[in-house]
Amino acid sequence: MSERELHLGLMFWATGTHAAGWRHPDARADAAYDIGLIQEVSQAAERAKFDFVFLGDRLASDPALQHSNPAQISRLEPYSTAMAIAAATTHIGVVVTANPTYSDPYAIARLMASLDHLSDGRAAWNLVTGADAAAAHNFGRDAHWDTARRYDWAEETLRVVRDLWDAAPEPDGTGARRIDHRGEFFSVDGPLDVARPPQGHVVVFNAGTSDRSRELGARDADIVFAGPQPTLAKRREYYADIKARAARHGRADHVAVLPGLTPIVAPTTEEAVALHDRLNALLVLDPEREVGDIVRAGGIGEGHQRNLTSASEVFGVDVRGNDLAAAVPSSTLAAVSEEGARRLTEITRLTRRTVDGPDRITYGDLVHATPAQLSHVVVGNPEEVADMIQEWFEEGAADGFNIYPAYVPGAVTAFTELVVPVLQRRGLFRKEYGGRTLREHLGMAVPPR
Ligand SMILES: Cc1cc2nc3c(=O)[nH]c(=O)nc-3n(C[C@H](O)[C@H](O)[C@H](O)COP(=O)(O)O)c2cc1C
Repeated sequence: MSERELHLGLMFWATGTHAAGWRHPDARADAAYDIGLIQEVSQAAERAKFDFVFLGDRLASDPALQHSNPAQISRLEPYSTAMAIAAATTHIGVVVTANPTYSDPYAIARLMASLDHLSDGRAAWNLVTGADAAAAHNFGRDAHWDTARRYDWAEETLRVVRDLWDAAPEPDGTGARRIDHRGEFFSVDGPLDVARPPQGHVVVFNAGTSDRSRELGARDADIVFAGPQPTLAKRREYYADIKARAARHGRADHVAVLPGLTPIVAPTTEEAVALHDRLNALLVLDPEREVGDIVRAGGIGEGHQRNLTSASEVFGVDVRGNDLAAAVPSSTLAAVSEEGARRLTEITRLTRRTVDGPDRITYGDLVHATPAQLSHVVVGNPEEVADMIQEWFEEGAADGFNIYPAYVPGAVTAFTELVVPVLQRRGLFRKEYGGRTLREHLGMAVPPR
């Protein structure tokens, strides 16, 4: 095992992270409320020695996501789900997304501390400030706050939460003290009514995109959960930026950068490509519409719809009215925009179909490459998927990955059974847990009071 350790998490969306994942025969379309399945999938990740299961959250629903991202419409709230996972596992960490924009520091401190006790030191908080403007209207606000206000609020929240943990009693009730915090947004006396978490400070993740998010992640978080970047150069740039900011705060070795990764894996390359094609064939496309209006799609964030009108807009050539299964003429592909050309390279990487070979890119491929990707996708046999993980890990783009299974439970076990053994054989990933707590898996010490 090299000195630097690869970290792996499981992004848990019950119906899968591919928009049509719930329609695959190895998926359970009704999985969102089946605690047995949620526990079973977490146990599979634990058998593979994953660092954590990751539970995202939203504070709003949007029926329009029915065809683009059904897992985002309805699901269990993450604290309760995390408790159920903790009860059915012994080592794997459990990450709960909590948005301070709509919560109080005292409430977050006690919920996270309780989860850390009930899991024996396996809790983590994914601190997000929220991408959903609609959440404001569920919490008595007129509008979603702007970035500056959300991050000012989040930073003070984090300070208060950690102060509350540091001033919390020992499990026998001794040692508690008040914090008497008087800040810009909060007055909090303390002490907390839950003992200091076994990890001292519950591990903190941050997921965001803005400059403020990068700064908060580098200065205050343990893990930066990175969104997708369009090119390898951009991924390296992002990674180097977080590390350089962390170094400025004296914490270069204390922040891990974990991007999301959707592996479409099968025993052979041909089977993996066929699986990817099959998933895309199960997508329900959006109705055609006028060129020009970008609409909400893809779950978190803005994106284009899946249809030939949107593809025409994104690729800069008129492909409307064509048969999706037909190959696109090379002359059309030669005329695409710069952004279109970048996406054609991506299509070839995923489908192995090319601009001018015998197996040519289809109109359907253009449609599937149109919406914004939630995470980087890799399609291949176990060695090919492991190669990509190793390359990013060794060449300054990632310290590990949050694995997004395209469908559940089939894509979870495909990764744990096919790819993890390859990573272990290469000495990149642990074969056994070295400790019990999430901090121990991450090689992070318990902070002193
Ligand atoms: C990888 C990733 C995961 C995210 N997960 C969530 C989530 O589970 N819930 C949520 O409300 N927002 C989530 N967000 C959105 C962020 O909270 C953030 O609001 C959004 O990225 C806008 O960036 P900014 O807040 O830095 O401006 C996520 C963002 C990224 C990049």
